[in-house]
Amino acid sequence: MDALAHALLGARRVLAITGAGLSADSGLPTYRGIGGLYEGGETDEGMPVEAALSGEVFARNPEITWRYLAALGRAGSSARPNAGHRALAAIEADGREVCVLTQNVDGLHRAAGSRWVLEIHGRMDALLCTACSHREAPVDYSALQVPPRCPACGAVLRPPVVLFGEMLPDEAIAELRAALKVGFDLVLSIGTSSLFPYIVEPLRLAAAEGVPTAEINPDQTPVSTLVDYRIPSPAAEVLPEVHRRADAAQRD
Ligand code: OAD
Repeated sequence: MDALAHALLGARRVLAITGAGLSADSGLPTYRGIGGLYEGGETDEGMPVEAALSGEVFARNPEITWRYLAALGRAGSSARPNAGHRALAAIEADGREVCVLTQNVDGLHRAAGSRWVLEIHGRMDALLCTACSHREAPVDYSALQVPPRCPACGAVLRPPVVLFGEMLPDEAIAELRAALKVGFDLVLSIGTSSLFPYIVEPLRLAAAEGVPTAEINPDQTPVSTLVDYRIPSPAAEVLPEVHRRADAAQRD
């Protein structure tokens, strides 16, 4: 943690890549691992939860996908940012540029005050009509009849999240590309199983360029052997402590 705090102290542009493990300390379920959403076996329809949350199943049977979207939405609506989200916002408030590349759809980085957030898997805090331009926000997932229907045209509504097999949001991808072109001087991987190439690539790029990299995750992942610093503890403990140590070192 001291070595990471030292790297943070010298960093002006930080990329923080985050996943469900960061929000685990806000009481939200992860997707994989113990208690993970995908570990519960099959749905009543006999398909894995990943398949239920796919664009293909949504197009055919939106009520199946919606059962899981509504559960995600209900869990997220009572969740609050934890000390990890707040530490990232504080690291930015110190005067650094902090790009948060998150796979989380819970909005907790924005709620914590982070200003540069790329929500690469979309967000849950609005519903869009799949047929017309109708849009609703905010969303009360606990009161929702699923699948919700558009009051204007009757088509199914959905949040702008990325379901399995769907494209990533163009804008977020373009912004990520542009940010990577400028470069970062510290890259962090926090609470993600790092399964997707666009999540691993920025770390690989940084490592190849000699930019310091770190992973904060109790478990091993595909990037564990790639990073300079590996801290196998919960992010809500590590991030505030690293920030505190960087602050203390600056004052010395
Ligand atoms: P996963 O559920 O795959 O991984 C969560 C990671 O967080 C694991 O590596 C855990 O070891 C780690 N973890 C658990 N508790 C932690 C804690 N307190 N502090 C730090 N790390 C902790 O979640 P993601 O990697 O975010 O996509 O999953 C990526 C994507 O897969 C999700 O965005 C979702 C899913 O399919 C879509 O819905 C498109």
